[in-house]
Amino acid sequence: MPELHTIELTVNGQAQRRAVEPRQHLADFLRGALGLKGSHLGCEHGVCGACTVEVDGRIVRGCLTLAVQADGRQVRTIEGVSADGDVRDLQEAFVRHNALQCGFCTPGMVMAAKELLQHKPDASREEVREWMSGNYCRCTGYHAIVDAVCETLAARRSRPGASS
Ligand code: FES
Ligand code: FES
Repeated sequence: MPELHTIELTVNGQAQRRAVEPRQHLADFLRGALGLKGSHLGCEHGVCGACTVEVDGRIVRGCLTLAVQADGRQVRTIEGVSADGDVRDLQEAFVRHNALQCGFCTPGMVMAAKELLQHKPDASREEVREWMSGNYCRCTGYHAIVDAVCETLAARRSRPGASS
């Protein structure tokens, strides 16, 4: 039995203190210990992006990040950003464009797109395609996903007070 390590972190605004195995990855911890199953596990090798979550405001692969590496950090998952309304416009655009079929990739897609919306508000369609290329979808063919992200970017840019 491996030695357990106690970690303290904030997940979706709530303080958590848990004992974890040193090799447990963050996505497994979020799903298993906290019941946050919106972060999906596909490849568990850092390839598909289904496990994408935020740590201290930047997206990471939950399957490549150890739970112990999240000690002392702020973690947000699709559950948290959905509840806060941060991505409501993006989620509505996904629905309008039929940008999901089975939905397995969708939480990771939304988390990845959220970061793009925050940090690259002037992104071109080509840049959106490049940014989202790290997240795999087996169903949609990607066009509708890119359409949804581009529409959300444009809508945010046209908001009163938008800097660009
Ligand atoms: S499950 Fe993490 S990248 Fe695929
Ligand atoms: S909607 Fe099925 S994997 Fe993307």
